[in-house]
Amino acid sequence: MSMAPQELENSASKYAGEAIKCDSQGARGMAITNYQKAIDSLMKLMQLYPRSKLNPIYKERTASYQKRIKLLRESAPIEPAVDPSASPAEQKSNLAEHQAKNDFEDLIMKEKPNISWTEVIGLDDAKNALRESIVYPSKRQDLFPLGWPRGMLLYGPPGCGKTILAAATASEIDGYFINVDAASMMSKWLGEAEKNVSKLFSMARGYAEKEGKPVILFVDEVDSLLGSRNSEVGGEVRVKNQFLTEMDGVNGKGKDLKLYVIGATNKPWSLDWPFLRRFQKRIYVNLPTVEARHNLFSLYTDPLKKEPSLKIPLLAKLFEGYSASDIKDVCQAAQLRVVHEMFNSPEYREPTGEGGDGGGQDGGGEPAQQPRDVAIADFRNIMTRRKPSVSHEMLRAYYQWSENFKAL
Ligand SMILES: Nc1ncnc2c1ncn2[C@@H]1O[C@H](COP(=O)(O)OP(=O)(O)OP(=O)(O)O)[C@@H](O)[C@H]1O
Ligand SMILES: [Mg+2]
Repeated sequence: MSMAPQELENSASKYAGEAIKCDSQGARGMAITNYQKAIDSLMKLMQLYPRSKLNPIYKERTASYQKRIKLLRESAPIEPAVDPSASPAEQKSNLAEHQAKNDFEDLIMKEKPNISWTEVIGLDDAKNALRESIVYPSKRQDLFPLGWPRGMLLYGPPGCGKTILAAATASEIDGYFINVDAASMMSKWLGEAEKNVSKLFSMARGYAEKEGKPVILFVDEVDSLLGSRNSEVGGEVRVKNQFLTEMDGVNGKGKDLKLYVIGATNKPWSLDWPFLRRFQKRIYVNLPTVEARHNLFSLYTDPLKKEPSLKIPLLAKLFEGYSASDIKDVCQAAQLRVVHEMFNSPEYREPTGEGGDGGGQDGGGEPAQQPRDVAIADFRNIMTRRKPSVSHEMLRAYYQWSENFKAL
């Protein structure tokens, strides 16, 4: 089987993370290679799942990496990947010059993902928190004399819906959605980092002031930017401090503005307290409950032809511990099994006549051969070969962290 969507997404973030690291150390060649690999993974993901609702977000990211590659190439036309004669400071100021011209406006998502709250399954706490903090204050600002929370942190294991939640929020609001992931942030923010942080926030404030519409600043994989452990590089500490100051601005004097910051991470423990404190709502995006798994299986097996004996409640029970994204992959794997079987059976015949791609009702030709219906045995088989992507240790760590830091 080819790579599952979650794997592709993970490899994209891995390469992007690597790219940022190289980028911040001035290793342009390596940075470019890794940005390119991140782009390749995202492109593959979009090609494989042309109808995925998260594609606008992936497209945005691809564009920002491409832009970064272009910038890096321009800033070093003939130089080798790392120019040993240039001091790090020289390399940095060289980059900063180019970045000064950067236009932050292009971080605003013009094409919003078209995804509704009902398509995000389960996660009621998270949905309510996002909806209430954003919708109620927009309608009745007078009921919030003490202000309302502006910083929201979504944390939890991979593939449970953090990004999809942000996407649903974006498509729901009549306002602006600024989508930044750690990679584009760090690359844009190198050099004149702190200045650019305030530029980004003041752009967001500007939009909120001008039109009185909500503005959401979504920072995905926020830990790679603000983690307390990977901030030895001086610049990163300053970026972080500037970010904290800006957050104070959003929480304090910008009291009447509808400006929100949503951060997402699956490593909440790498965030330090000064950072956490500014995110008043810290929301656990957990593995799906049995009820949510039921709804996920209904959703993802809906387009499949199923044996009548295949019962959704049983699937929901069997796949305890699997993430939403695992469940999507499992359903896809089940369909792949029956298709594979059809193509490899001795009875398989190539479609006759022209246009044998669909139901084959057209023309006078025979109807195209169909695979057998998907059965419970297929799911049991997949389960033996595919374990949940989130381990017990990881779950314990999230649980522990939640006990100490959760804030709804
Ligand atoms: N609650 C959910 N309801 C419906 N589909 C979901 C849900 N959670 C995840 N999915 C499916 O899994 C895919 C991955 O989800 P998403 O990217 O939101 O996870 P994530 O929590 O952001 O993971 P990561 O931490 O790896 O970034 C989505 O595109 C969606 O198809
Ligand atoms: Mg995500």
